Amino acid sequence: MKWKQQIYGMKAYQPGKPIEEVKKEFGLDEVVKLASNENPYGFSPKVKAFLEKDSTNHAIYPDGYAQSLRTAVAKHLGVKETELLFGNGSDDLIAIVTRALLYPGVNTVMADPSFSQYSHNAVIEGAEVRKVPTKDGKHDLQAMLEAIDENTSIVWVCNPNNPTGTIVSDDELQNFLKQVPSEVLVVLDEAYFEYINAPEFKDTLHYVSEYPNVIIMRTFSKAYGLASFRVGYAYAQEDVIAKLDPVRGPFNNTVLSQKVAIVALEDQEFIQECRDKNEIGKNQFVEFCNKHGLNYYPSQTNFILFEVKADSDVVFQEMMKRGFIIRSGNALGTPGYIRVTFGTEEQNSKFLSLLEEVLTEQGVFA
Ligand SMILES: Cc1ncc(COP(=O)(O)O)c(C=O)c1O
Repeated sequence: MKWKQQIYGMKAYQPGKPIEEVKKEFGLDEVVKLASNENPYGFSPKVKAFLEKDSTNHAIYPDGYAQSLRTAVAKHLGVKETELLFGNGSDDLIAIVTRALLYPGVNTVMADPSFSQYSHNAVIEGAEVRKVPTKDGKHDLQAMLEAIDENTSIVWVCNPNNPTGTIVSDDELQNFLKQVPSEVLVVLDEAYFEYINAPEFKDTLHYVSEYPNVIIMRTFSKAYGLASFRVGYAYAQEDVIAKLDPVRGPFNNTVLSQKVAIVALEDQEFIQECRDKNEIGKNQFVEFCNKHGLNYYPSQTNFILFEVKADSDVVFQEMMKRGFIIRSGNALGTPGYIRVTFGTEEQNSKFLSLLEEVLTEQGVFA
């Protein structure tokens, strides 16, 4: 068959091992997954109550335009309904943007390490991928500007960045946007937006009205705890959205996921609670790193990337045996580091005491 040449050698996305599989493999009763930056508190109790009484007719196609959800998100953000695009998770939005703008002969600029799906989708479209190394885990925006040329179609700013958790400050972003050529689309991927608390990050929505080449992506998968429902949205000027909309699959959100996202959006108290608890988790990890002299990247997300001074794959494996699934830095382009999603306070304490045991066994701690 006549496969695209670039498909050869590509691997499907490698998610963390499923909990059930780890339980079976290691004979464990309880396994905690701290590998995919999901919300350890699940979703809003209002969503739970809604689901318990829901009687959606799943035989009927969903509203492809997601009208009710569109109205709710537009109101929540204070933007026009026509300025929004909905995706089956922001993964879908990344694929839509890539499909619309990338092809052989053009290039796309991104940080390294950053979220893997930017390059994955670009490779499928046959575009050149220009990866610009991060500096201390932060986007090197000056070097990214220098990587842009007349063939650049998309530049990705993962803010906060996955896997380093660092942010681009408002000053840095403003200075960057001023210099990006107006025909290059700038994607601001804000999957972890709800967790940011750094004062140097300021709301970015106004950049969309100032710059016709800016698109912001957010998701219901992280703080809203709806990863399995697959709902993400993008905000950009009306004509950008109109160009992207035909590229979208016709029914890319289910009826139920649209309904659930509306309910979740209404419970901002839950989001605030999760944000507060996330800070407690972050402090537990930061204290651990400080106590043991382990380097870490300052996180503005619900995960942290930190040094283990040992083979990350070994630490990953040893922690899995003890009932915790995490991400090895080897899989993320950061060997010697691990990325861990913050769990509940209790899960974090257990994780950190087991990690101490593993790192002592590995000869890292005396
Ligand atoms: C930076 C970033 N963008 C996008 C996504 C995709 O999220 P979803 O497709 O669940 O909305 C993730 C998920 O891990 C992410 O970390």
